[in-house]
Amino acid sequence: MQTASTNPETAVDAAEAWWRGAVVYECHLPSFRDGNGDGIGDLEGLIASLDYVRGTLGADAVWTGPFYRSPLLDQGFDVADHTDIEPIFGDLEIFDRLLVEAHARGIQVIVDYIPNHTSDQHPWFIDSRSSRTNPKRDWYVWRDPHADGGPPNNWTSEAGGSVWEWDTGTGQYYLHSHLKEQPDLNWRNPQVRAAMLDVLRYWLDKGVDGVRIDVAHMLMKDPEFRDNPEAVGGNDNPYDLQHPDFGSQLHLYDRRHPDTHDALAEIRAVVDEYPGAVTIAEIEAMSWDEWAAYYGPALNGMHLPFPFRLLETEWQAGRLRNELAGLYAAMPAGGWPIIALGNHDRLRLATRLGAAQARVAAVLMLTVAATPCLLYGDELGMTDQPVPAERQRDHFGHTAGGVSRDSTRTPMPWSAGYNAGFSSADPAKLWLPLARNSAEINVDAQLADPSSFLSLYRRLIQVRRASSALRHGELRFLADACTDAVVAYERYRGADHKAVLLNLTDSPARVQLGLTGTVLLSTVGGSGRHVEPEFHLGAGEAVVIDVVERARTT
Ligand code: GLC
Ligand code: CA
Repeated sequence: MQTASTNPETAVDAAEAWWRGAVVYECHLPSFRDGNGDGIGDLEGLIASLDYVRGTLGADAVWTGPFYRSPLLDQGFDVADHTDIEPIFGDLEIFDRLLVEAHARGIQVIVDYIPNHTSDQHPWFIDSRSSRTNPKRDWYVWRDPHADGGPPNNWTSEAGGSVWEWDTGTGQYYLHSHLKEQPDLNWRNPQVRAAMLDVLRYWLDKGVDGVRIDVAHMLMKDPEFRDNPEAVGGNDNPYDLQHPDFGSQLHLYDRRHPDTHDALAEIRAVVDEYPGAVTIAEIEAMSWDEWAAYYGPALNGMHLPFPFRLLETEWQAGRLRNELAGLYAAMPAGGWPIIALGNHDRLRLATRLGAAQARVAAVLMLTVAATPCLLYGDELGMTDQPVPAERQRDHFGHTAGGVSRDSTRTPMPWSAGYNAGFSSADPAKLWLPLARNSAEINVDAQLADPSSFLSLYRRLIQVRRASSALRHGELRFLADACTDAVVAYERYRGADHKAVLLNLTDSPARVQLGLTGTVLLSTVGGSGRHVEPEFHLGAGEAVVIDVVERARTT
């Protein structure tokens, strides 16, 4: 049996580190709520939504999405000024007000920290490309052409094509792991590190409660810039919305260099000057051992490295259980995981899994031993909606063969009213078009329906909030109840004992539970029912059980 590696010290930490028991909510600013009627979500809109986040949904923290000065070719992940706000989103005064209003409601604010690259409009890059002798030349990654006259090596970008862009002015190539308008910073240059750590201090000084670190695994590349090996047969990732070029090779040398961990430890040391602040790292899916290394050798790395391997696991009970077991086995003692099964870069949960299994996934995220990170609108069961080319915002979709992620990022539907309550602007001016099903899938409609997605999420978060076992307890798989169809585990802490059964199929399932209690919550209805040692789960049903009597065997 697998047990989450918690120990007595962790139990003390659990009371102290707010993020261990928290529910994090990813808002994605331009799509969340428009506060000033121009059609684009903004900081005022987020402030106006805090009561929803806290009071209605019950989340503890918001992750905002980028709001820095930006040409917005990559939804703000192309930063042109790290210490000012993009006017479309507001200004520094409004940001300070967001912090005050969020904190007054007990909501923690997590902002994006984007260390790997900037916009090509950033003054650092404008300087860097101005001449080969500019003091900021080495702040980015410049290389001479390959001996054959082409790009320095074969690395392909996440947005498609080569990572190298030729600069006619200075006769060298610069490196961009994403769009050509997003040049990579050179983290091997100490001045770059110092400048980027100052950026971190700037936002922590303002009082943010943590950072979500963009592509944290990419900071360090192979210093010799060796060619990536070709992926024989391709390594396309069906779970990621990446350009097919990216899958043509194994990305061995353009990311994940061991030196990355030193850079992340430096980031962590700065964050540690601000007690309570959390580091959440976006790192791509990788083996559990490599994932675990991001906690740092002495837990001096990231607090919460995303385990995207889970997101990329086929939705099948045996596979999911194996991966969860792998995660807990690899996690260092004293570590704690975060879980996200969707985000602004991926297909929406209800699109990927279908509505019934998206509800099962909600139960998993909110009851497994981890900090759940939920994407706005997933609590409504929002689905992806293709966005016509002329309305697309994501420049990743503008390159030949490129894949736009806009379908995941349509506006949050608040009501059945004008523009689904998202904005008072002319519909043609909305950041992205509304989902066609906004009249049915919206906050107001779902609040009135006890069987809705939103009602399920609210109930799940209430049940979680009321249970220290679900927030902080250990996890153990219920081996007898785990089948090809069902993932079953228990969480316990002191006298509080819960069991969770997830039926990942669309057929009914019978499990040998070996314990009795009461169903606190079910994805298909039927809470309050008495639990017998042999338990019948409906098709696609997930339940949380309050255990009264157990037959624990270990
Ligand atoms: C991260 C972000 C993604 C962005 C990329 C480049 O993967 O989540 O949206 O395009 O980094 O910043
Ligand atoms: Ca606006």
